[in-house]
Amino acid sequence: MARGFESVGLEGRVLTITGGTGGIGSAAALLCASRGASGVIADIDTEKGGQLVDSIREAGGTAEFIRTDVGSEDDVAAMVDFAVSRFGRLDSAFNNAGINTGNSMIVDLSLDQWTRGLTINLTSIFLCMKHQIPQMLKQGGGAIVNTSSSAGAVGLAMSPDYVAAKHGVVGITRAAAVEVSGEGIRVNAILPGGTETPILLNAFEQNPSLRGIVEQGHPIGRIAQPEEMAEAAAWLLSDAASYVTGACIPIDGGFTAQ
Ligand SMILES: NC(=O)c1ccc[n+]([C@@H]2O[C@H](COP(=O)([O-])OP(=O)(O)OC[C@H]3O[C@@H](n4cnc5c(N)ncnc54)[C@H](O)[C@@H]3O)[C@@H](O)[C@H]2O)c1
Repeated sequence: MARGFESVGLEGRVLTITGGTGGIGSAAALLCASRGASGVIADIDTEKGGQLVDSIREAGGTAEFIRTDVGSEDDVAAMVDFAVSRFGRLDSAFNNAGINTGNSMIVDLSLDQWTRGLTINLTSIFLCMKHQIPQMLKQGGGAIVNTSSSAGAVGLAMSPDYVAAKHGVVGITRAAAVEVSGEGIRVNAILPGGTETPILLNAFEQNPSLRGIVEQGHPIGRIAQPEEMAEAAAWLLSDAASYVTGACIPIDGGFTAQ
């Protein structure tokens, strides 16, 4: 289908964003709302959720918050039901919640920490897509973006549960794309490099020399701003990326090019 070069936004799209009050999630919520999407912000942080919804509405956008623990299938199902009951449909999903469970070598990692890392970073993506895809199939299409990490492409020491889970996000993204792209649902992933959000700033606080090491580890010479991840996600969610599916795209200042 030929298309001109008109700008492609997210007008009228209904979008869920998990981890929606965090650094990358809130940047994506603000950007997508500014491009016309109605956003359902899902997170465990109720206070920040209320503040973000207020900011989006003050800027003229449309947003709602629902407290959602992405490790709970009931919560994830309720998030999708909420989007449909509030806005009548679900067009787009940014499945982005994630945690760093703490740094540990494999030999020291407890089964509890492993299970928590896998649940919040990977099982969550399965649960989200399990409940989002049926609604999108009913509507004849949709777009999903899952958040992996550079740690989904290469190994990093001291984070075995995170690295395994983020590689898993790449795998389930490709599996889902193969299953549902023929039904009009595009499924992609972004692999952020180091990004200036609480997950990384907390690590810098514990180990101040880490900032320089992380910055120099990225050929571009700095870490990313969350808005740079939001741009990639918003593009993948929009029709501007109409032929992109099953793609797992590094947005990492060259980190995984090395
Ligand atoms: N910041 C980075 O350097 C970086 C790099 C690569 C990948 N990522 C990934 O990007 C995503 C977003 O992270 P961020 O950098 O914005 O960090 P962040 O800590 O600012 O945001 C994470 C959000 O997830 C929410 N969350 C945590 N547990 C949850 C749960 N059980 N249910 C629902 N929400 C939950 C938190 O409340 C927070 O709002 C994560 O998947 C992370 O792994 C981040």
